[in-house]
Amino acid sequence: MQGYVMSRKKICVIGATGSIGSATLAIVRQFPEKFEVVGLGAHSRVEDLQRLVEEFSVPWAACTGISCCSEWKKTSRLLVGESAAQQLIEASDPDLVISAIVGIAGLAPTFYALNAGIDVLLANKESLVCAGELIKRMRDNASLRVGRLIPADSEHSSLDQLLHRQGRDQVRSLVLTASGGPFLHKPLSELKSVTPRIAVAHPTWQMGPKISVDSATMVNKALEVIEAYWLFEVDLDQIDVIIHPQSIVHALVEFHDGAIFAHLSTPDMRGPLSYGLGIEGQRLPNVMRPLRLADVGALTFLQLDNERFPAIALARQCVERGGTAPAIFNCANEEAVELFLQNELRFVDIVPFIEETLQCIEATSYGSVEDLVEVQMKVASLKSEIVRRCNHG
Ligand SMILES: NC(=O)c1ccc[n+]([C@@H]2O[C@H](COP(=O)([O-])OP(=O)(O)OC[C@H]3O[C@@H](n4cnc5c(N)ncnc54)[C@H](OP(=O)(O)O)[C@@H]3O)[C@@H](O)[C@H]2O)c1
Repeated sequence: MQGYVMSRKKICVIGATGSIGSATLAIVRQFPEKFEVVGLGAHSRVEDLQRLVEEFSVPWAACTGISCCSEWKKTSRLLVGESAAQQLIEASDPDLVISAIVGIAGLAPTFYALNAGIDVLLANKESLVCAGELIKRMRDNASLRVGRLIPADSEHSSLDQLLHRQGRDQVRSLVLTASGGPFLHKPLSELKSVTPRIAVAHPTWQMGPKISVDSATMVNKALEVIEAYWLFEVDLDQIDVIIHPQSIVHALVEFHDGAIFAHLSTPDMRGPLSYGLGIEGQRLPNVMRPLRLADVGALTFLQLDNERFPAIALARQCVERGGTAPAIFNCANEEAVELFLQNELRFVDIVPFIEETLQCIEATSYGSVEDLVEVQMKVASLKSEIVRRCNHG
């Protein structure tokens, strides 16, 4: 007897060659009967992209960091150039885009997908940080058919799962946990000599270099506070951060009555990604190593030290200021991390670099993705001046 064959979910992964892209494709390898990869996008790693395209028999690929590629095997179509990721989404016509590009470069394709009514599994938090107001306006516009925004960040996916079927009016606070990164207990005086190699060695998560540095400065958690603000539409002062070095509890929701629900799992991005990829809220089996709490022993929690990690308070001020302030915060951080990874800025100057940039550029209201790209260009044009100021500070 012929069984009922369910059609596979068509997915397009942009940022496919990175850490999140790889974790997503690992899930597809585990469940080939559930997913069809219709598009894959990368930036510079063309050979890796070609390998993935062949493995998954993908009809469409995109590479944003090149203008042509004569060695590309003709089994699939390759789109190139700056806007290749948007063209990839349009051509491959997916049910779901996995937005796994790092940085504000992910904004235009993410916005394009949402605006075209395509659901987005969002790892690229920088998009929502920069364009939260714009995306909210678009989602609130009843005359538009906007795609759903599904969180991929472990904390936000956990909150999404915890809030399932619970009214927001019953929530007292949302709590994001932070591991504290590699320098949680390092004397502040020793942070001056931190090198990129030390900073990217995260104690609990395997991630790309930019988010690893962001975790060490806690800018990552600052970006996540802004991300939670736009995703869950609660007041800013209802979003808390707590240090939890084991990265087992990813988030907590405190309800009105005083009950607190927590989400626990091993630290493995395949957990939140598989939940986001899952079909109609169905959890995919055996994606993460089982969590044995008796082996973990103790779960500890510490108050956030704002002197050691000033980025979160700064991010909150940016949300309160509104307009382009969160985008300036984000773009300044992207420049600072790049400079740090090239040994042109000290680790301890990353957050001061952001503060200086916020002093130099006035936040204004904005109305389009292009306005935010202008913010990015303005920040980039000021970077040498800001580095000079940091060196004299
Ligand atoms: N890694 C994690 O565990 C984790 C967890 C939560 C959230 N996130 C978020 O997920 C996103 C990706 O992080 P990741 O750790 O996977 O980064 P990653 O390993 O550095 O990978 C970045 C990906 O983006 C592509 N890319 C880089 N610059 C680009 C550009 N200008 N235009 C288009 N594509 C570009 C890269 O392509 P090439 O490799 O071809 O150059 C690569 O595929 C970030 O927003 C991060 O905050 C990551």
